[in-house]
Amino acid sequence: MKIMAFNGSPRKKNWNTVTLLEHALQGAASVGAETELVQLYDLDFSGCISCFSCKKRNRKADGVCAVQDDLTDVLDRVRQADALIIGSPVYYGCESAATRALLERLCFPYLVYAKPPRSLFPRRINTAMVYTMNVPEGMIPTVGYDHVFARTKMTLAMHFGACEVLLATDTRQYTDYDRYEADLFDKQAKYARHAEVFPEDCRRAHALGVRLAAGTAAEQA
Ligand SMILES: Cc1cc2nc3c(=O)[nH]c(=O)nc-3n(C[C@H](O)[C@H](O)[C@H](O)COP(=O)(O)O)c2cc1C
Repeated sequence: MKIMAFNGSPRKKNWNTVTLLEHALQGAASVGAETELVQLYDLDFSGCISCFSCKKRNRKADGVCAVQDDLTDVLDRVRQADALIIGSPVYYGCESAATRALLERLCFPYLVYAKPPRSLFPRRINTAMVYTMNVPEGMIPTVGYDHVFARTKMTLAMHFGACEVLLATDTRQYTDYDRYEADLFDKQAKYARHAEVFPEDCRRAHALGVRLAAGTAAEQA
């Protein structure tokens, strides 16, 4: 059982998204999975360039992106993965740019424009999206993020297999809010939530990793 995780935050150590991914991978490893964490912001890669090599009738191989860059080897390893976890901060109501680029390159080569559309990925594997964000959970429907999460969940489910979504809301963005202009936020509430709620988010991520490794990831919102 091989689980690959992708950190779509440029903050690679100790911050919200990567911490949750590390807990998920620790959970997976605790039940015997082999794990890999890919730091997207260590890689030089683009999104889909719309060359349509992957859609050609006379293509040499199915599900292969023709773009050659730092993502090429990573996408090759995805073929051997038994579960995928993609972590991203919410940036302007969406996944981060690197996460979007990954999603395009990861999914599009497997998409067949058939009626109905189908995937060329040879197996069904479990997937998960882990999102971290400033907004509190109660605001998610108001700002429409639920539609964004649902759309990506649907995309991964169609291309690879059932997708579970884990949300960490109202995250601590700065260790010291006094150093930044951030009057929008109640800094004491942010510190308290980081101390009290984020550890529970990490436990949920650990449990997600266990479920993914056991092949029992549930459909959750
Ligand atoms: C460029 C940028 C845009 C952001 N946009 C949003 C947003 O639209 N909604 C939100 O809730 N948080 C937003 N945030 C906050 C981050 O999503 C949040 O702090 C996240 O937990 C950061 O993850 P990290 O600690 O792993 O980097 C934004 C942060 C940055 C840097």
